[in-house]
Amino acid sequence: MQNLHLITSLLQTNKDFMNILAIETSCDEASASVVQNGRKILSNVISSQIHIHAKYGGVVPELASRHHLENINFVVAEALAKARLRINDIDTLAVTQGPGLVGSLLAGIMAAKTLSLIYRLPLLPINHIEGHIYANFLEHRIKPPFLALVISGGHTELVIQRDHTHYKILGRTRDDAVGEAYDKVAKLLDLGYPGGPVIDKLAKKGDPQYIKFPRPYLTGSYDFSFSGLKTSVVNYVSKHPASSVQHLADVVASFQQAVIEVLVNKTIQTALKLKMKKIVLAGGVAANSALRGLFTDKIRKTGITLYYPSPVLCTDNAAMIGCAAYYRLKNKKLEYNQKMLTFKAAPNLQL
Ligand code: KG4
Ligand code: ZN
Repeated sequence: MQNLHLITSLLQTNKDFMNILAIETSCDEASASVVQNGRKILSNVISSQIHIHAKYGGVVPELASRHHLENINFVVAEALAKARLRINDIDTLAVTQGPGLVGSLLAGIMAAKTLSLIYRLPLLPINHIEGHIYANFLEHRIKPPFLALVISGGHTELVIQRDHTHYKILGRTRDDAVGEAYDKVAKLLDLGYPGGPVIDKLAKKGDPQYIKFPRPYLTGSYDFSFSGLKTSVVNYVSKHPASSVQHLADVVASFQQAVIEVLVNKTIQTALKLKMKKIVLAGGVAANSALRGLFTDKIRKTGITLYYPSPVLCTDNAAMIGCAAYYRLKNKKLEYNQKMLTFKAAPNLQL
């Protein structure tokens, strides 16, 4: 076992390899990952706090940061162990700088800065949203330009990525993020937290045409809005309380249908208008099976290619941060210097 580890280490430290150790703690998941050459995931440890926040129906920021502080060293150690590497085998560190909850971000950033200082390793701060988009690069051979739809618990954005550093945000949500709408509807119906995966599963048993909830297209704008739709669900449920599991399934299927029709139609129309040949989905809601299905159906015969990551890479994870860091660095070797430790957590960081 010891020899195997030594041989693996020797192979990995060959100069053709670029090993990035990435840390992500922007919300309620503490994650560390080793990514080799931007594509090969040697480890991707994700420590979820869902069991801690579920009873509150959402993330409690104070609890999240406290648990990250207790947990992060173990998560990093496990990521190295699973990759069969030692810290000396790491070329560069990467960490999520923002956006996210400030206390949560700080826990990951302090861990990364400490490792950087002790081991004289270069450290790269990465935008969380950029990470979500780059999750696609871990699994697909894909080149910008493309149109990205970023849909998570905190974000709903239509973005043009021209090359590896240039983004243009076309539109964003004017109120609730789409994942937030899923979570709020699930809370209203007492389905637990997070709402997206539960609704995804329950909706499969329901009739998506049962209630015709509004489709908020905001015609003429690239923006989105989901709070009116959420209010329509609240109003419907107050007049027609869920009378059976089937009724509940019909309500969530109808809510989900309204959401995904808007996301799919608006994104494809935008891609056609702007002559974009590729659409990339990113963020936790991109794991939704109905959304993937509708996108796949509607994209046929448009000449557009659709990309999305595996479900585990859609939700928060550090591999996507390591991948984004690799593409930022490509062709240049970063040397350690203390100035790289002066960046701060940026809870409202923009792309
Ligand atoms: O990207 P993410 O892990 O964290 C943020 O950056 O916000 O996204 C979390 C969000 C939550 O709102 C969760 O309910 C939603 O993604 N989500 C889903 C699914 N899995 C996670 N929404 C719909 N369907 C899913 N299968
Ligand atoms: Zn996220």
